[in-house]
Amino acid sequence: MRCLLLLVVFFVAGPWKHPGEARPLVPAVMLFGDSLVDIGNNDYIQTAAKANFPPYGRDFQDHIATGRFCNGKVLSNFIGEALGFTGSPVAYLIPEASGENLLSGANFASAQSGYYDQTAHMYNVVPLSQQLEHFKEYRHKLVVQVGSNQAQSIISDSLYIISAGSNDYLFNYYVNPFIYKSQDQFSDLLIGILNNTVAVLYGMGARRIGVFSLPSFGCAPLAVTVFGHGGNDTCVTRLNNDAMRFNRKLSTSVELLSKRYHDLKIAVLDLYTPLYSLVTSPGSQGLEDSRRGCCGTGTVEATVFLCNPISIGTCPNATAYVFWDSVHPTEAANNVIADSLVDGINLLVM
Ligand SMILES: *[C@@H]1O[C@H](CO)[C@@H](O)[C@H](O)[C@H]1NC(C)=O
Ligand SMILES: *[C@@H]1O[C@H](CO)[C@@H](O)[C@H](O)[C@H]1NC(C)=O
Ligand SMILES: *[C@@H]1O[C@H](CO)[C@@H](O)[C@H](O)[C@H]1NC(C)=O
Repeated sequence: MRCLLLLVVFFVAGPWKHPGEARPLVPAVMLFGDSLVDIGNNDYIQTAAKANFPPYGRDFQDHIATGRFCNGKVLSNFIGEALGFTGSPVAYLIPEASGENLLSGANFASAQSGYYDQTAHMYNVVPLSQQLEHFKEYRHKLVVQVGSNQAQSIISDSLYIISAGSNDYLFNYYVNPFIYKSQDQFSDLLIGILNNTVAVLYGMGARRIGVFSLPSFGCAPLAVTVFGHGGNDTCVTRLNNDAMRFNRKLSTSVELLSKRYHDLKIAVLDLYTPLYSLVTSPGSQGLEDSRRGCCGTGTVEATVFLCNPISIGTCPNATAYVFWDSVHPTEAANNVIADSLVDGINLLVM
């Protein structure tokens, strides 16, 4: 009887862990930003930027469209798994995000948002500043759950991931070329917001922060279609150059931030290189097609606009594709990208 009770307690105490496996490397994970990590927050807000209908989620567990902009798992799933969890922590806006479910962290990300709140406002999604407010609220709930000492230790030992910037460029800067004076000013604006975001998280107790670099978004099929001038290039060099320039500034700032906050571990997690390698030599990772997304014709389709249940031409099997829709990587590509982040993440959580 006693033994049975212990067994029950074991399973009740650790629903977010693999039973019998090692404890996760951190108590919890907190994710902020955009669709590369969002697992369904946008399902609960009024926006067109949703992915809660087929064929999204086609290869996910139970073939459910969860709001992930992918056929299967997104980067937050793979990062969670690498740390010893079953996947991403719970999406903060879903009704089940309460009580015990908050103990392994929360996912505050909202697809189509960026560093700049204006980008999120354009598409009615949750701006980064609001995601930080949600984290503040989360912190109070955690204190109620486990008391302030335990909450404090969870907050400071957790891994924080920030994934932003692509939408600021692709869906704001490039579509409003006359609003922003120069790419230099625009990137400074974004880096200033990152600085502030790090300061706010640090102020609330965060001590381990991974910041995604910009991916090589000039290689996204949508970018090639819209900005590639009908050529046959695999990637739009001008856009990738912008991403690289931003990433150089990002690295410098993150280094300076780590000096400013002595007890903060912070690092850039490079998305640019692994995506670029996948696109330019998909065969090296067992993939084949990097020019077209799987959904629809593969050149412009994303969200309900064109990637939807009646999209014509959707590929039968996404496992050989780098892109799922015209901007988002497939599960297969996310798996490769996440693998390349593991060393950097390990340094943060050591
Ligand atoms: C960001 O913070 C770093 C480190 O303190 C600082 O050197 C840099 O000038 C800041 N950048 C912007 C754009 O605010
Ligand atoms: C693109 O590539 C195809 C096949 O390799 C070729 O037939 C076509 O002329 C190329 N188009 C341009 C604009 O270079
Ligand atoms: C897709 O192809 C892969 C590799 O050939 C195969 O393992 C998988 O079962 C296929 N998936 C579907 C849904 O047909």
